[in-house]
Order: sequence, then C-alpha cells, then structure tokens
Amino acid sequence: MTASVNKPAFGTVLVSHMAVATYRDGRWGGSELKPVAPLELSPAAHVLHYASTCFEGFKAFRHADGSVHVFRMQQHIERMRQSARQLVLPEPDAAQLAGMVRSVIDRCRDAVPEAPGALYLRPLLIGTSANIGAAATPSAEATLLVLASPVWDYFAGGMKPLRILVDDQNTRSTAQMGVVKTGGNYAAALGPTLAARAKFQVDQVLFCPGGEVQETGAANFLLLREGALLTRSLDGTFLHGVTRDSLLVLARAAGFTVSERVFDVTEMLDWVRSGEAALSGTAAVLAGVGTLVYRGAEHRVGGGDVGPVTRSLRAELVAIQQGTSPDRHGWLTRV
Ligand SMILES: Cc1ncc(COP(=O)(O)O)c(C=O)c1O
Repeated sequence: MTASVNKPAFGTVLVSHMAVATYRDGRWGGSELKPVAPLELSPAAHVLHYASTCFEGFKAFRHADGSVHVFRMQQHIERMRQSARQLVLPEPDAAQLAGMVRSVIDRCRDAVPEAPGALYLRPLLIGTSANIGAAATPSAEATLLVLASPVWDYFAGGMKPLRILVDDQNTRSTAQMGVVKTGGNYAAALGPTLAARAKFQVDQVLFCPGGEVQETGAANFLLLREGALLTRSLDGTFLHGVTRDSLLVLARAAGFTVSERVFDVTEMLDWVRSGEAALSGTAAVLAGVGTLVYRGAEHRVGGGDVGPVTRSLRAELVAIQQGTSPDRHGWLTRV
C-alpha cells in the first residue's frame, strides 16, 4: 500500500510483510520475512489456553527528507524482554528483534506514512507448545512476530478533549502483572471500559484501585500545570510507558518540577480545578482530558479544553519524533 491517501482506523491495516522467528530446543532459530498470512497453530497451543503472550507497540516516523526513524526502539525491546521474563516465555534476543523490526521497515518502506502519520510496529510473542495440561508449566516453544501498521490518530477526533471515567472499584490487572504488556490486562479492562462508555459516554476509564490514581486501559496518566507535572511513581501495578518517560525528560529539561509519587482521586480532582490532565502513550501521544466523571458527578478539567501545557509538551515530543527538532537525547534510530 502507499503512504498517503485515506486514513484507516488505528491498527486496522497491516503492511504486506511480517518477520517471524521460532524458539525450539532451547534456542531461537533465524528470523524470516514472510507475507502476512494466517499462522499455523495447534489448537492445544499454550497461548490459547494459558495466555502466554506479550507484545510491544512503538512507532517509526518518516522525516521530511524521506528517511525513516524508530522512536526509542531499545527501550521497547527491553520492555518486551522484561514482559517475556515475567510470563516465563523465552526471552527474545535484543539484536535479533531489532533486526526483525528493521527488516519489516526495509521491506515495507513505502508504507511508512508521512507526518502526521507513522508506522506502528507490533512485536508479538506467543507460547506455542501443544499441551493442554500445562497450566503450571511454561511453554517450551514460542513464536516471535513483528507486524506493522500505518497509523494516524488513535483517538478519533485528534485533539478533542477526552471524557474519562474515574473508576475506584475495578482494576485492570493484578499487582504484579500491571507492569507486563500482556493481552490478559487488556481483556480485564475491556468489560469496565465498555460499560463506562455505555453508561457515561466516556472515551476511557482511569483505573484508581483503592482510590489511588493508576492508568487508563492503554495509556499512562499525567497531571500538568505551568512548570509542574505529577504522575504515579513506577511500581509493578501499571505499565511503565516509554512516552511517559520521554515526557518526564522533556519536562525536567524545560525546568518543570516533576513529581513521581502515589496520589489519590481527591488530590487529582483538586488539581484539575485549575490544572490540566492528559493521557500519554505511543498511540495517544499526549491527549488532553476535558472532563472527569467520578461517582456520577462531572468535573471539568481546567477550562474543559486541551490545555496549553499539554499542547506544548505534546508539540515538543512530536517535533523530535518527526525530525523538526534536534534529537538531543538520542531517541531515534535511523532505519
Ligand atoms: C496499559 C498501558 N499503559 C501505558 C501505555 C503507554 O506506554 P508507551 O508510552 O510505552 O506506549 C500503554 C501503551 O501504549 C498501555 O497499553
């Protein structure tokens, strides 16, 4: 497919090729580039029964001179390796996985959209051992894939302020698995998110188990105001976003007071009376929140629009990704 024209919904179109590697007899075999096609998988495959799966999501950007650059590839590969370790899946080799990402981009270079689009990269690791009695046994065999999809806006409507339900009843994960990028966490968030959409017409749910602000179904959560940023400190309960980390670096460099600590719903509602709130992630980038719905009451965030601090931090990050600002932190890998 070509880089321009119509803009399909996020993630619905794949490029023509994928990279594939398999793990067997205690080692990874060589990777291959193949046309995207259905996988051959035993119906007894470990992943289908015991959810031995993890994935990653990151982007490659086409710069004005036509060159293609992956944003923070090593951090995403390291997070994938950590997810694999926690799920007792064979750990992908970092160099091999980077090579697989490069080979897909190289083969499908024409499909990398121009800004503001990007090529979304999706490594996926699944346990393939055929054994339906392996609930307490790790998968001895695994398949690693790299898929790619040309993407534009994640939230239909682009910079429209989001409406978010503050949920202090449900959790999206267990205390130890929140940090793992595994399908089960998304499955757990789905029911509460759909229910919240139907009942409160919200875009997303902000999970706040026990009243502590955590994250949404697919993004981290930041509170912002001029010169200040507050977000939850890293622990095992939520995904350690690479976008979150990048924004914290940019905010610190801009002289912001950056606080990473546990905070509760009461403090958040107090903050947003005059401050800003935003979701951060590879897909969301930095998406401003306009309204928080909590226990049936609506709380307007600042003026109800995407705030100026959110806009300027987002613009700073996007400029680095798209190559219109210098890459001072060495975040881009040219492919
Ligand atoms: C649950 C969850 N939290 C946070 C994030 C943000 O992570 P990152 O910034 O690395 O994309 C994601 C993925 O985008 C996610 O799925």
